[in-house]
Amino acid sequence: MPNCRAVIPGSFDPVTNGHLDVVQRTAELFEEVIVAVAANLAKQPLFSLDERLEMLREVCQPYPHVRVDCFSGLLVEYALKQNAKVVVKGLRAVSDFEFELQMALMNRRLSDGAVETLFLMAGAEHSYLSSSIVKEIARLGGNVEGLVPESVKQRLRTKSVED
Ligand code: PNS
Repeated sequence: MPNCRAVIPGSFDPVTNGHLDVVQRTAELFEEVIVAVAANLAKQPLFSLDERLEMLREVCQPYPHVRVDCFSGLLVEYALKQNAKVVVKGLRAVSDFEFELQMALMNRRLSDGAVETLFLMAGAEHSYLSSSIVKEIARLGGNVEGLVPESVKQRLRTKSVED
């Protein structure tokens, strides 16, 4: 295998069980996995970069060959610097496809073909799950049990109380 390192990029605001499913499955396919948190987001995140990193480090602890890091700037530049030729993304529904296709093709172009994007289909139980919907439910006092890891559930509760 020419390259055994994959990057899973995302906002992770916050990490959900859907993300975790992708991390677990990617960890079975690659020798080394870097979960890369985007530092500069277009919209204001609920959780700071440090909080997002901390939550991910907690939940990725059981996987010794999964490392959590952050990046700013172009994803392909980060991936190449890490010597990773593969970016892994989860696809939940057809609605994700158009934008993800655009990003995958653009990333291939930006890297002169050096970085490929692989898609893992989200499990059916995660196909309707997103960080945004989880934040909305938590903000309105709904139950996020089973949608996010337990530690994230606690943090969401704290944030809702702070607001
Ligand atoms: O979890 P998200 O919000 O879907 O993650 C989106 C993310 C961070 C993966 C995407 O916005 C990204 O790759 N940002 C880095 C900047 C970049 O490289 N932009 C060009 C993409 S074609």
